[in-house]
Amino acid sequence: MTHHVPPHQPKTPGANALLAGKAKRLLIANVWRTAAEGGAFATHDPASGALLAYLAEGTASDADIAVAAARDALVDPAWRDMKPSARGRLLWKIADLIEAHADELAELETLDQGKSWATSRMAEIPASAEQFRYYAGFANKILGQTIPTSIGYHPPGKKLFAYTTREPVGVVAAITPWNSPLLMAAMKLAPALCAGCTVVLKPAEETSLTALRLGELLVEAGLPAGVVNIVTGFGSTVGAHLAAHPDVDKVAFTGSTEVGRMIVGAAQGNLKKLTLELGGKSPAIVMPDADLQLALPGVARGIFANSGQVCVAGSRAYVHSSIHDAFVEKLALEAGKLRLGHGLDPETDLGPLVSSAQAARVASYVDEGKSSGAVIAAGGERLGIDSAFFAPTVVTAVHPEMRMMREEIFGPVIAVTPFDEPEEALVLANDTKFGLAASVWTQDLSAAHRLAAGVRAGTVWINCHSYFSPELPKGGHRESGWGYENGPQGLENYLETKAVCAVI
Ligand code: NAI
Ligand code: MG
Repeated sequence: MTHHVPPHQPKTPGANALLAGKAKRLLIANVWRTAAEGGAFATHDPASGALLAYLAEGTASDADIAVAAARDALVDPAWRDMKPSARGRLLWKIADLIEAHADELAELETLDQGKSWATSRMAEIPASAEQFRYYAGFANKILGQTIPTSIGYHPPGKKLFAYTTREPVGVVAAITPWNSPLLMAAMKLAPALCAGCTVVLKPAEETSLTALRLGELLVEAGLPAGVVNIVTGFGSTVGAHLAAHPDVDKVAFTGSTEVGRMIVGAAQGNLKKLTLELGGKSPAIVMPDADLQLALPGVARGIFANSGQVCVAGSRAYVHSSIHDAFVEKLALEAGKLRLGHGLDPETDLGPLVSSAQAARVASYVDEGKSSGAVIAAGGERLGIDSAFFAPTVVTAVHPEMRMMREEIFGPVIAVTPFDEPEEALVLANDTKFGLAASVWTQDLSAAHRLAAGVRAGTVWINCHSYFSPELPKGGHRESGWGYENGPQGLENYLETKAVCAVI
């Protein structure tokens, strides 16, 4: 296996147009502008190493201009007074445009991020459209309440009338990661727009292309100026500035727990609202009666999909000792069958990681594990010195205190550990600071629900892993984050409640 694959020429006219040699710009108040300080940075295809485009390197001054545009848009009658049903139609139209341009968005996503065409085209781009469609239906169903109160000190002869209204939380800074770029942006933009907020989106510096194409589609859909602004650039400059900005009311962040903590610190100044969707180390518990026809491909997909660069990736499997050895052997076979290559090659099951730096990071976890006694049952290496490709890896004999068992690796690496009693499986599964997700594999209904109740995690799957839908709230317990995305809960995070109490 070579460690680089040849560059791919984009096939769709839309992707070709976006990559046609022009330096990319920032979207502020529906105008595409160069960065205030004139900087630019490159974005690459991680599979081939080919240069894809130069992105405008936004800095603090661009973030300031974007936040000001978002503030203005918040009170612009074109947005503030837009009828809820019209807001809903606008969200629906955005979904339609994403679908109509799904081929080129998928091509851009795969080129920029590395993931397979099937993952982009069949899963993530359609899921991005569905985010907008789900919240489109909510736009005219955001309701307050009338509230009978028991206050006793109003003037005699008068009555009390109290009610609540819901208001947009305000200007939202959406800071997104590189693992599922368009989907992560859609998961923030859709509820934010549904609630009537305005947004400054800072996409991950590694993978900003689909956000820029989405920006063009948002303008085409008729979104009023300033409602969504897109500032490409780095986390330590644009991201940090937005997180500390006094005119930003809320940060919606997905990324590492480490940066999540920095955002909590930066947000203190104006006590902005935060939703944080952070790291995970999600367990998969495989009981002795599990249907292995489901569990083997399911556990494999749970870790290897998107090359393990998934927040909920099932990176720790606890398998009953009676089936452990056979399970490891078969999982290693599954891992070995996956074909690595360019995401746009139809033969490819798994693309590269997002960058060779990420592959090096993954390798450092695996190497450290190996030198402390962990045993590699499959994979275990990068495919070449600078390669962004990392072989799907199954590891056993991983001690609970090893870094590869405790930290989020964000690569195609699973540690498999035997257990004897269900209680022991739960102790092992919960031996983590994270609490994002888990899966349970068994045909025993009672055992399944008991385990689901016992796992400390925001999502538990039974006989499946990584099943998502905008209808299902998704969030992290413990150090996996604050708040929820998707479902009605996801909308709540973009709304404030106002209680109005009147003597009448
Ligand atoms: P990261 O957390 O640094 O990046 C995520 C986003 O935060 C990017 O848009 C980045 O520009 C921005 N950012 C970085 N520093 C910031 C700051 N000080 N203030 C505001 N925004 C900032 O993630 P990174 O370094 O790209 O990946 C490192 C590891 O983080 C991965 O290996 C993985 O373990 C974890 N990660 C987890 C994700 C998840 O969904 N749970 C997503 C991405 C990364
Ligand atoms: Mg980073």
